[in-house]
Amino acid sequence: RTLAKRTASAVADYIRSGHVSKVVFMVGAGVSTSAGVPDFRSPGTGLYANLAKLNLPYPEAVFDLGFFHKNPKPFFTLAKELYPGEIRPTVAHSFMKLLCDKGLVSQIFTQNIDCLERVAGIPSHLITEAHGSFATHSCTKCKADYPDDLMKENIEKLEIPHCNTPRCNGVVKPDIVFFGESLPTRFFQHMTKVAEADLVIIMGTSLQVMPFAALPQQAKEETPRVLINLERVGGIGSRRDDVLMLDDCDSGVRRLAKYLGWLDDLEELWAK
Ligand code: OAD
Repeated sequence: RTLAKRTASAVADYIRSGHVSKVVFMVGAGVSTSAGVPDFRSPGTGLYANLAKLNLPYPEAVFDLGFFHKNPKPFFTLAKELYPGEIRPTVAHSFMKLLCDKGLVSQIFTQNIDCLERVAGIPSHLITEAHGSFATHSCTKCKADYPDDLMKENIEKLEIPHCNTPRCNGVVKPDIVFFGESLPTRFFQHMTKVAEADLVIIMGTSLQVMPFAALPQQAKEETPRVLINLERVGGIGSRRDDVLMLDDCDSGVRRLAKYLGWLDDLEELWAK
């Protein structure tokens, strides 16, 4: 086996051994909850538990393309709350940045649309925003780009943005990936990085949405997979080099950083 033991300290020993240079992170909403962004599926606090006011047929409808074409209003009502504001990256984001700075990371796959990986200073070639982001916008009919300042204005006024292309008038939406849409080509291009990884770290995701949820299985059998999450998900723990750290992301990465002897570096980076 690759790890001496299935513990966080053995993961740290493995990273320090010099045999690790291709870490792949797979993250979801749980890495951002400590920044004040709700996740989707946590009972009570998750976004899907708090959509009653939108009168949806089912919670995920708010991000469903078919439903959006019929009624875009619920999405734009929610978009006003979701629009990335003045939020700061979390310790978990800083940990990813720290490993990038040390040259250990080959790719970060994020399902989040809050852009906190970019804000944390992680170089864009190392980030795959699998579910898109609020950074750009386009027409659902003719695909033409739509300016960010106009989108902000519309969302602020709770108005539905329409395409400016002559005779189009399609509804415009932020380039976040809805159910019924395909993921960015970058996601598929970089999937090979998972098979080449020497360590996989999965944080803050319920691994319930495909095809993202299938990424951990692409790792080689002997590649250690670490799960830092409040609950066990996606069958992680079933392979002999899987390590479960059932904790909140920030505490989990601090523990790893401590074993690595990099806790001061991490705190310094986060405080910046
Ligand atoms: P979920 O809300 O489905 O899952 C979040 C996971 O993180 C759960 O397992 C929580 O227990 C865990 N969690 C929450 N806070 C945590 C913390 N501080 N530390 C550790 N774990 C924590 O969110 P995602 O898996 O990201 O798609 O959801 C995937 C996709 O479903 C989203 O990208 C979104 C949604 O529909 C689209 O909008 C297209």
